[in-house]
Amino acid sequence: MEETFYITTPIYYVNAEPHLGHAYTTILADSLGRFHKMQGKRTFFLTGTDEHGDKIMQSARERGEGPQEYADRVSRQFRELWPELDIEYDRFIRTTDPDHIACVQRFLQRVYDQGDIYFGEYGGYYCFGCERFFTEKELEEGNCPDHQKPPEYIQETNYFFRMSRYQEWLREYIQDNPDFIQPERYRREVLAMLREPLDDLCISRPKSRLEWGIELPFDTGYVTYVWFDALLNYISALGWPDGEDFARFWPAAHHLVAKDIIKPHAIFWPTMLRSAGVPLFRGLRVHGYWKVHEEKMSKSLGNVVRPLELRSKYGLDAFRFFLLREMQFGHDGSFSEEGLIGRFNADLANDMGNLFSRCLAMTGKYLGAKAPAPPESFQAEDEELMRLGRDYLEKYLQSFEAVHTAEALEWLMEFVRGVNKYIDTSAPWSLYKQGHTQRLETVLALALASLRRIALAMRPVMPDASYAMCRQLGLDLEHLDLDLRQECSKWIFLPEGTQVARKSNLFPRKELKLDREEPAQNKQASEKQQQKKAGKGRAKNQESAESEQTWEIDFADFQKLDLRVGRVEGASPHPDADRLLQLEVDAGEGSTRQIVAGLAEAYSPRDLVGRYVTVLANLKPRKLRGVTSHGMVLAVHGQEGLSLLTPESGVSPGDKIS
Ligand code: MSP
Repeated sequence: MEETFYITTPIYYVNAEPHLGHAYTTILADSLGRFHKMQGKRTFFLTGTDEHGDKIMQSARERGEGPQEYADRVSRQFRELWPELDIEYDRFIRTTDPDHIACVQRFLQRVYDQGDIYFGEYGGYYCFGCERFFTEKELEEGNCPDHQKPPEYIQETNYFFRMSRYQEWLREYIQDNPDFIQPERYRREVLAMLREPLDDLCISRPKSRLEWGIELPFDTGYVTYVWFDALLNYISALGWPDGEDFARFWPAAHHLVAKDIIKPHAIFWPTMLRSAGVPLFRGLRVHGYWKVHEEKMSKSLGNVVRPLELRSKYGLDAFRFFLLREMQFGHDGSFSEEGLIGRFNADLANDMGNLFSRCLAMTGKYLGAKAPAPPESFQAEDEELMRLGRDYLEKYLQSFEAVHTAEALEWLMEFVRGVNKYIDTSAPWSLYKQGHTQRLETVLALALASLRRIALAMRPVMPDASYAMCRQLGLDLEHLDLDLRQECSKWIFLPEGTQVARKSNLFPRKELKLDREEPAQNKQASEKQQQKKAGKGRAKNQESAESEQTWEIDFADFQKLDLRVGRVEGASPHPDADRLLQLEVDAGEGSTRQIVAGLAEAYSPRDLVGRYVTVLANLKPRKLRGVTSHGMVLAVHGQEGLSLLTPESGVSPGDKIS
């Protein structure tokens, strides 16, 4: 039977912009999806937004927008952010999607018909932030533990789900199935909750108080409680009850959440499924919280970390790698730019980048950049390297499978360090000098095969970097056998004669880019000066000072830029963004390269063909709205709008600009 894997993130509330925490769960889910796909499984990755309820209604009202208009706007921010972080979801679900609404009503009717929903009067402490009632015992000195505000006492008639009926069954299920909730500390936390009497769950809100929700199928005076609605996204997205995807993927469902929403996922959700006669999901995987300088991220503390800012400062590869490498699954993680830079430089620039660069340079110098024939016999140190290669991959697979990405990457780095050591001790440079050609070929064949494994293992974590590595190794990406599990059992050499790159500079060292602090006195003086000069308000001046801040760089830094003359050979509108154009640029490399440029406001595709432009050629490839751009075309925002930087005359494609 076809093996499948289904991974979900929480659907995020649309009352806040996406931040580091959302990005982490979603990147983690993306990497798991890719990891399982690389084992030949058919995968489905679901994410989306949670759009009903009090909180959303209130936020929309505060902004003077209708709830649907507001939800459309913020949901779009999430949906458009994910591809920018190389996140490839299969469906982005919104709880306002018609198929989701129909599914919620069908499910409610089923639970109702089953006799598990009753009507009753209830008075209790309600926290609008959490959108739920609290028992007195759950409050901390009378306050909601999350929002540190006293909840309101509300008395109303509502519908209730007989959750208590399933308490004992659920306790036993979790007891008997240790893998259902992991890590263990969260499993124990849930079991402890289930030792206390479980109340029934209030699943409706009267329309007189809240209209923004899914109407109950059996009483038009009420809407569905937002959590009962939201949890169902995990099956509505697959077309429950009779969708093909539901049959295919539901038995392999894994939910990824942080510790904040463990109770709805570990208690409400399984009991809801049980009541409706739907089999349970396979596993709930719970991670900790990212903190910034030991504090929770929050708007009021001004420490919210924005993923796109980090991507533009340090690059996507560094960002994804840091999140998956640093967070010990199940524990809280501490985020800092210093930490990100430190990890990048130590693991990627020093160890992995250096390994690629030295192995490829040696293959270039000693073997004309062609992979040697697979060796026929091995020495003890070769066997040792191959053993290390097998062990690391097995442990990498086990750890990734268990969502312990930090551990998986530690194993990978262990291997990288092992290969570096192998090169040091086998000293190909001496073998070359001494004319030991056969031994030299064995060592480099093993080194290249090791690089191949590393490139594949990096794929779920840093898809772009892995792609660049594969290209440097001359791997035919279209026909690459991608079964990670098979890789464990056999050692795959590059086919003899494969042309590999002569140079590799995958991970140039990065420097911290903190906003530069001027000494306080200077800062005040210069602020005053600026205000005087421009005669404008303080806030405005601060803003422009920040955006115009310049950096001194060394000449050596400037030399890193590969600036060249390019000629536009073809141009067309971007399929998915009005601002962008897709260009084919001849930069003197034999074939054209695709560059995506934000030029549409000033140039039509026809204006551009045949023009000479300035190209930044060694910018890492990045996807702009789904289309990969290999470099950048330089332009200036002048007083009259956008204008291309064009060399005057007598130039050819590929001419270096210095
Ligand atoms: N809408 C509900 C989920 C419904 S799922 C059926 C919700 N939304 S949320 O916008 O508050 O998202 C919470 C989730 O965002 C966490 O469980 C976690 O996945 C992610 N994170 C938000 N802040 C986080 C950190 N500081 N650190 C790590 N993850 C965090 O709850």
